[in-house]
Amino acid sequence: MKEKIKQLAREKNAIILVHNYQPPEIQDIADLCGDSLELSIKASKTKADIIVFCGVHFMAETASILSPEKIVLLPAKDAGCPMADMVEPDALKKKKQALGNIPVITYVNSSAAVKAVSDICCTSANVIKVVNSIDADEILMTPDKNLAQYAASNTSKKIHLWDGFCPFHNTLTAQDVKRARKDHPNACFIAHPECRPEVLKLADSIQSTSGMIKFAGQSRHTSFILGTETGLLYPISKTYPQKKFYPASPKMYCTDMKKITLENLADSLETLTGEIKVPEDIRKNALGAVQKMINL
Ligand code: 13P
Ligand code: SF4
Repeated sequence: MKEKIKQLAREKNAIILVHNYQPPEIQDIADLCGDSLELSIKASKTKADIIVFCGVHFMAETASILSPEKIVLLPAKDAGCPMADMVEPDALKKKKQALGNIPVITYVNSSAAVKAVSDICCTSANVIKVVNSIDADEILMTPDKNLAQYAASNTSKKIHLWDGFCPFHNTLTAQDVKRARKDHPNACFIAHPECRPEVLKLADSIQSTSGMIKFAGQSRHTSFILGTETGLLYPISKTYPQKKFYPASPKMYCTDMKKITLENLADSLETLTGEIKVPEDIRKNALGAVQKMINL
């Protein structure tokens, strides 16, 4: 199956972009495996005719926003992101207006329609940089309240929150972390900024998924507790086989991220099904917010 996929990708000049949370067998056939920021940048620069996005819906939409001339495929069309569904454009426009039209930073984990009514996007890897680039003292951030609180604790600007969250990162409690630390007393605890503030307070370092991989390589520690979706255990352990990695909690398992299989990937490439295309009026408006982030 892996050979068939590689052959199809060669024949059709397709690139396979894979998020760090995807199943191991999907990560193994990636042209690029990475976090949301790395994958967006790659999607904006590739010369391939087809982008196969192994991730969730908003990631494929972002690729379509950046590369409208390309065919963007999401092999499992129902792979969504519950956090992205927690904000919709009309409600966001209303809140922005009620706050006196302050700038809106939208996490890439959002629909193209929400990006289209936002000023700039951010990812977990660049959120502080994006916040500090805004020429205003007050900002509205959507949809992730935890990411927004993390940004607020790293800036003097006033950040207004939206009540969204990742159901898997938000499930991790301070008690879970304390238990994991007790089980692995010498391990360093790295957390994703989608975790709750009380969890981030306990972290030795706060990183995006690819940031965690880089951090583990540079750290003098030999064991780590990962406060993120458990899919990251595979690429990080593969990169540093001599180091040990433990999940902060087995509850952090995103079912949408596991919907892509070798079978639906091969089928999507062969028949070009699962195409994600953002309507041009929405795309044009969303591009401004995504491109501003990439330029930054
Ligand atoms: P990053 O890989 O950008 O840290 O994203 C985490 C995530 O939850 C993606 O859905
Ligand atoms: Fe969305 Fe959380 Fe799954 Fe990422 S891990 S796709 S933020 S639900």
